[in-house]
Amino acid sequence: MGNATTEYASLESRLAPYGQQQALRFWDELNPEQRNHLRDQIESIDLDQLESLISGQDEEQDFESLAASASPPPAVRADGSGTSWTIEDARERGEQALRDGEVAAVIVAGGQGTRLGFDQPKGMFPIGPVSGRTLFHFFADLLIATGERYGAEVPLYVMTSDATDTQTREFFAENQNLGLSAEKIRIFRQGTMPAVDSQTGKLLLSEKDSLALSPDGHGGTVAALVKSGSLDDAKRCGVKYLAYIQVDNPLADLCDPVLIGHHVLSESEMTTQVVRKRYPMEKVGNVVLVDAKVRIIEYSDLPQPAAEATTADGELKLWAGNIAVHVIDVAFLDRMSQTPESLPFHRAHKKVPYIDESGAGVEPKQPNATKFERFIFDLLPSARNAFVVEARASESFAPVKNAEGAETDTASLARAAISDLHRRWLERAGAVVDEGVQVEINPRFSLSPADLDRKIFANLQIESDRYFDR
Ligand code: UTP
Repeated sequence: MGNATTEYASLESRLAPYGQQQALRFWDELNPEQRNHLRDQIESIDLDQLESLISGQDEEQDFESLAASASPPPAVRADGSGTSWTIEDARERGEQALRDGEVAAVIVAGGQGTRLGFDQPKGMFPIGPVSGRTLFHFFADLLIATGERYGAEVPLYVMTSDATDTQTREFFAENQNLGLSAEKIRIFRQGTMPAVDSQTGKLLLSEKDSLALSPDGHGGTVAALVKSGSLDDAKRCGVKYLAYIQVDNPLADLCDPVLIGHHVLSESEMTTQVVRKRYPMEKVGNVVLVDAKVRIIEYSDLPQPAAEATTADGELKLWAGNIAVHVIDVAFLDRMSQTPESLPFHRAHKKVPYIDESGAGVEPKQPNATKFERFIFDLLPSARNAFVVEARASESFAPVKNAEGAETDTASLARAAISDLHRRWLERAGAVVDEGVQVEINPRFSLSPADLDRKIFANLQIESDRYFDR
């Protein structure tokens, strides 16, 4: 028996018990390099795990009773109520952590951005309403300004995926690391999971020599931080807190001292920033308390009666909407990484292109496949003293998810939100901004509204679009 035949036999015997031999359908047509490629992919799959995910053995939740026992989470509200310490106390504590170099930034940027329909990594999407700066530039400028303010450069960990890694690395290299020190940046790649046909549970092929793989969800951050050595790097540098954001929210409060301060003062292992839901069935994850544990119930899983329940003063009882901004203790993440199964996989029914039995490419019009993803917020129930910090959506949340034309979460809406916020900053400092004029402030010009007072003349008249660069 030749090597290739032995290899085929060994792969087939691996796949056959799971009824997945079709993955080798085109083996005879592949050259040695292609065979190696397919073999490596197949060998990296945990087939036992995949089988139990396909059969759904892992996921049986009774959301009716879960939601019925849910109450609001322990939280500090945007006006500072809910804690024994003040917003100023939190700011001072957070500033101390930043000065002590105890904070690193984690930006997850591995998503495929299918809804946005941008053919490059989302981080490279131009979002500045006047400057046209990309999302990556937004956060780099914020980190530079923060590092200068507190006298300690903030390390940056950027998570990519197979879909975004090469272009992201090139982008940072071509743009001199966006002004950040090279030794403070680590770009690391998350893992993948195979997609299966939703009807049959069979592994899909994207090419004759390739399974249809997709990123394993933002929950893949935990494993990828460890595997890439980034968590060790953080520990070595004395980092205690990871400020986590997703790349597609240009208003995300990355390394905000108040948020970090609330995290430290609450002695929480994981703190999550939320916004107040505007209406019961709003499409955000609901951050709630069940059996003394903070957790998220997705909007699609929240039964209407629980969503609509109100308190005596008429507020929504389950008010806290997830915006995917977290502060996570390094020690907690380290502990959680020892038990990877503590983050469950979720299923998503999606359109996944594949090749059919004849080898012809198929672009499905309807969702055809099941993808498996881990979510970072599933860490919350395991965190001691998990805590919630309310932010105002107009100051902290402008996600870029959808292509133009959609009603929510488009780039134009995000640009308008940035300009509106910066207009309010300018007006607060005494400037007069003409109607219809777009404004944008680089954090290197002013990191906070208070900084503006020292930077601009009172009564400054702004009559045309203006970018306050550094
Ligand atoms: P979304 O779940 O909104 O996905 O990710 P997306 O990839 O941006 O867009 P769609 O759903 O394909 O249209 C939220 C954030 O989490 C990151 C994304 O980069 C985005 O910042 N993410 C998501 C990852 O880093 N890895 C993943 O596997 C999934």
